[in-house]
Amino acid sequence: MSAEKSIEIVRDKQNPDRLLMMLLAAKGGYVSGEEISRRFGVSRSAVWKQINRLREIGYEIESSTRLGYRISKSSDLMLPEEIWSKSKLSFLGDRIYYYSTIDSTNTQAKKLGQQGVPHGTLVIADEQTGGKGRMGRSWLSPAREGIWISAILKPQLMPFDAPKLTILTAVAAAEAIRDKIGILAEIKWPNDILIEGKKVCGILTEMSAELDAVNFVVIGIGINVNNDFFPEEIRDKAISLKMAAGEMVSRADVTAGLLERLEYSYNVSMSQGFEPVFEKWRKLCRNLGKPVEIVAGRRIIEGIALNIDEQGALMIKKNNGEIERVLSGEVSLKYEK
Ligand code: BTN
Repeated sequence: MSAEKSIEIVRDKQNPDRLLMMLLAAKGGYVSGEEISRRFGVSRSAVWKQINRLREIGYEIESSTRLGYRISKSSDLMLPEEIWSKSKLSFLGDRIYYYSTIDSTNTQAKKLGQQGVPHGTLVIADEQTGGKGRMGRSWLSPAREGIWISAILKPQLMPFDAPKLTILTAVAAAEAIRDKIGILAEIKWPNDILIEGKKVCGILTEMSAELDAVNFVVIGIGINVNNDFFPEEIRDKAISLKMAAGEMVSRADVTAGLLERLEYSYNVSMSQGFEPVFEKWRKLCRNLGKPVEIVAGRRIIEGIALNIDEQGALMIKKNNGEIERVLSGEVSLKYEK
C-alpha cells in the first residue's frame, strides 16, 4: 500500500457517507434500491454509481433487482463509518481523519491540535510509515494489520496530571481486548498491554501545554491485531490479537470497543476524579507485589512494586527498605522477575 497514493477522508459524524451508514446499519441484510433513491432523492442510476464507488474501496456488495443491495463483505479499511456504525459514542470521534497511509497518526494529530480541531477528534490510519513508540523508539505499523489511532483531547487538567490519561487509556485498551476477544490482557507499568507476557498494545501520550493549563493531549494507541509474524528483533516480545485468539479479529470492532471504554472512563474521571480508573488499573497490573527493575536515565531502581499513587506514579519498595515514587515519563521497566 505504501507505494500507492494515500487516501485522506475527513468526516463529521453528523455528516457521514449516508449510503454506507444505511448499508452498514442493515448488518448484511438487503436495503432496497427504491428506498435508497427515495431517502436521498436521487435516481436509481445515481444509486448504482454510489454503490460502485463503495465497491472500489473494497466493499463486496450484492445486488438483486427484487431485494436491493447488501454488503456481503466489508471493506477492511478503518473508515469513519465502520467505527460509527459499531459504537455508541457521545463526543469521541465526532470528527475522524482517516488515512490509508501516513507517517504517524500522533504527528498528524499534533498538527491538527495546533490548528484547533474539536475535543475528541480522532486520527486513524491503516498504515504508518514512521510510527512512533515511547522513548524515541519506532512502532511497527504494517498496512491493515493493526489499530493505529490517535485521539485529540482537551481536558481541564493541570499538565502534571496529563499522564493519568495514559493510565486511563491502558485500562480502556485492556478492557476492550477482554470484551471483544475474551482474553485476559494485563498492564505492564506504565502502559504496555500484554497477553501471555508479550506486548500487544502500546500507548504514546504527547501534550501541548502552558505552565498551568493543557492546550491539548494526543493519545496514540497501537494495537497489533492481525499480524501473523514480527521481525526477528521483537519476535519473542510481541503478539497480535490474531495470534492469541487463533483467528482473524475485526479491527473496527476492537476500535469501537476501545473508544467506548475510553470515552466512558474519561467521563468518569472528569466528573469523579481518577480513583475509579486507578482501582481498575491496580487489578489489571501484573507488576504489583512483584520485583521490578526500573531504568530511569542512568539510574536503576530495584525493588518491589507496591502500588500506584494518586499521581499515577509507581511506588517501589527498594531493597534498602526505602520507598521511591517513579513517574512514568522517560523510564522503562527493564525486567519483571
Ligand atoms: C510504545 O509502547 O512505545 C508506544 C507505541 C504507540 C504506538 C501508537 S500507533 C498510533 C500512534 N501513532 C504513533 O506514531 N504512535 C502511536
